[in-house]
Amino acid sequence: MKFGVIGAGQMGGGIAQVAAQSGFDVVVQDVKQEFLDRGRAVIEKSLAKLHEKGRLTDTPDVILGRMEFTTDLNAFADCDLVVEAIVENEGVKADLFRQLGQIVKPDGILASNTSSIPITALASASGRPERFIGMHFMNPVPLMQLVEVIRGYSTSDETAQFVTQTAERMGKTPLACNDFPGFVSNRILMPMLNEAIQCVMEGVAEPEAIDGIMKLGMNHPMGPLTLADFIGLDTCLAIMEVLHRGLGDDKYRPSPLLRKMVQAGLLGRKSGQGFYTY
Ligand code: NAI
Repeated sequence: MKFGVIGAGQMGGGIAQVAAQSGFDVVVQDVKQEFLDRGRAVIEKSLAKLHEKGRLTDTPDVILGRMEFTTDLNAFADCDLVVEAIVENEGVKADLFRQLGQIVKPDGILASNTSSIPITALASASGRPERFIGMHFMNPVPLMQLVEVIRGYSTSDETAQFVTQTAERMGKTPLACNDFPGFVSNRILMPMLNEAIQCVMEGVAEPEAIDGIMKLGMNHPMGPLTLADFIGLDTCLAIMEVLHRGLGDDKYRPSPLLRKMVQAGLLGRKSGQGFYTY
């Protein structure tokens, strides 16, 4: 099985790592060599940690030996499955899938790791809607169990079955849902994170107190502001905008503070500053 991943950021890198750990040959593509180098360094560190804890069946060297890093999209030509994990922007993703539809072998399956963008729209852009699907991993990919499998309007049963089995071979638990804005995970999660941000803006409590209340009171493993910083505030804003546009209700309106922080370049952990400093 040859597994392609587009985007060597936090999600793409994680997906590529777990695919290689599962024995697949993996091609990772990004737009610049420096992004590939950064992604590879994160994977190396994660593999070393897992190896130390005895959690790997192969050595990090063997796993890395299954991975190829490239800036060339043509490297996906003979992939059986390509998972896209680039910026959460419908136009940019659609453009990419238009190209991939021409490059990847006709029976190859294309998938998006999008958090919220309509699978059916991306499927149309790809020109192979029956072999297109949402394969939504959770962050951090090596540790999180769930893969949300989202069928587009024309996704075939064979495609859904193949992707479900692939997720299982990667040691994950796939759960199916249909193509609505934000699917299940982010339709429920994001309004909560947005509300926590609104609480900061209105001065309801300090960020540490908001996170502490949700952790201790609701038994959440991580407070909502810590989680928003971890996901990336730019990604959170993009998801809220999709929910707001797609579902219409005012309850999905992005908090003005979230918008302002993204405008200021405060993106959370990845930029070094969000609700907390990293
Ligand atoms: P990120 O910002 O860490 O990484 C994105 C990567 O894609 C960057 O390395 C960038 O250089 C690359 N990229 C951008 N445009 C590209 C193109 N045209 N071709 C190839 N590479 C390109 O973002 P992250 O957090 O990994 O998110 C990626 C996707 O995964 C988004 O759709 C996001 O909504 C989704 N997602 C994010 C989660 C999170 O917790 N951050 C969780 C689940 C899904």
